[in-house]
Amino acid sequence: MSAPITTPADLNNVQGDVVIGFSKRFESAVFFQIDNADAFRKQLAALVPKITTAAQAASDKDKIKEHKRNGGKDLLKISGLNISFSQTGLTALGITDDLGDGPFRDGQLKGAEALGDSGSTVNGVFQPNWVPAFKNPIHGVIIVSGDSHATVEERLLDTKNTLKLSPQGGTCHEIIRLNGAVRPDDQKGHEHFGFLDGISNPAVKDIDTTPFPGQETVAQGIVLLGREKDTPPRPSWALDGSFLAFRYLFQLVPEFNDFLRQNAIPGLSPEDGAEFLGARLVGRWKSGAPLDLTPLKDDPELGKDPQRNNNFRYDFPEDIQTQDRCPFAAHVRKTNPRFDLEGVPPEKGGPFSTENRRIVRRGIPFGPEVTPQEKQSKTTTQERGLLFRCYQSNIANGFQFIQESWANATGFPPFKPADQVPGFDPIIGQVNSGTRSMTGANPNAATASLQLPTEWVVSKGGEYFFSPSLPALKTTFAKA
Ligand code: HEM
Repeated sequence: MSAPITTPADLNNVQGDVVIGFSKRFESAVFFQIDNADAFRKQLAALVPKITTAAQAASDKDKIKEHKRNGGKDLLKISGLNISFSQTGLTALGITDDLGDGPFRDGQLKGAEALGDSGSTVNGVFQPNWVPAFKNPIHGVIIVSGDSHATVEERLLDTKNTLKLSPQGGTCHEIIRLNGAVRPDDQKGHEHFGFLDGISNPAVKDIDTTPFPGQETVAQGIVLLGREKDTPPRPSWALDGSFLAFRYLFQLVPEFNDFLRQNAIPGLSPEDGAEFLGARLVGRWKSGAPLDLTPLKDDPELGKDPQRNNNFRYDFPEDIQTQDRCPFAAHVRKTNPRFDLEGVPPEKGGPFSTENRRIVRRGIPFGPEVTPQEKQSKTTTQERGLLFRCYQSNIANGFQFIQESWANATGFPPFKPADQVPGFDPIIGQVNSGTRSMTGANPNAATASLQLPTEWVVSKGGEYFFSPSLPALKTTFAKA
């Protein structure tokens, strides 16, 4: 493909979850290695008709809406399935075309040091503190989602049988399976630190045709290869595929909560001061209400209202960007700086578009709720966190840039008062070894530096994958 295609994609050709998310309460990611490429390709031909397309994912969402409108309180039985391949997976299948994405080609392990993952250098080679499974080649990942654990198990069993995924005489075998689940009761939709997640994703042109107020629309080629604003050259079969960045992120929840209590913002009750500090670190209150709209107290109605909860730009009319309302380093401001870049005046070289930095996030929490013992000891003993996934057409512009050049970059965003170096994104900003700090945590002392623990979010692995279109799966990947 030499020039991007400006017509919109056919949703029957795009795998589900890329531009239209799966409707899910439970999800499993099965990472696999291919043992017999020819046999795998043959079995893949049988699996392709079973893969959930974006059109089906959209129709599932409509069905759920209709069910709720009719007063349905139970969950409809709905599941989703997709498949993606790493560079080593393409190589194992004998697919030699270069997809034109550096981080994908190199694999995430090679980039772990630059991402800031903790680890150590052994014989001149950086070894991240990852679980062993992600230190060996992973050829692909199958994602299965559903309304219940049973639905996921059923669909996964069928998928494994169809693909002949088995350690004995199969076409491929499982390297590691990770299971995610939406958190229970009033924590539904909240990640493990307690904050409502999944609020802000870009709308995709000609697909999300009625964006919520404040939701920016991006060209299709920001997510899909070969479409408008994707950066060629790509092999022609890459059209309507997308790169998936997967990260296995552990969260140290009792330690996070203890830090909030120890460093509570003064002048409030200890609980309110801790709550306020948490909101300053994320940029939203636990309810999802953005600090930029409600800087001093939570507003749960605002938090859950999609017509209002993303309608802000960090553009309150000061002459210079400030952190009065929201710290520069707050997670949501670092990862989507909005007016901090888009509002830079021409005399300072702006405005800077952030369109090609946008990613479509599809993560899900994993692990149990914090136990009373963990709460009491303020120490994590059970593994929990986020199975982070995001889609984009260019990993270097999307996930990798956000992590390395925004979250980990202490000077970002660039146009701010000289005495207020933002520091690390306190949630995901990281440095291989060393200390982290930020300014602006206390709105009454914006220049004060707050020392942060080395990490609350610990990377334990990950990989970059390519999610091919349905036509590419049929013609380039499968074999009749
Ligand atoms: C365990 C790790 C993480 C946690 C607990 C976390 C938590 C959150 C929360 C609570 C929000 C606000 C809700 C929303 O706007 O949807 C958010 C937004 C966001 N996060 Fe994360 N996140 C994590 C990892 C990451 C990573 C690894 C990246 C990318 C490198 C990332 C990028 C974003 C982006 C782009 C937004 C939307 C910002 C906006 O548009 O305003 N997050 N995250």
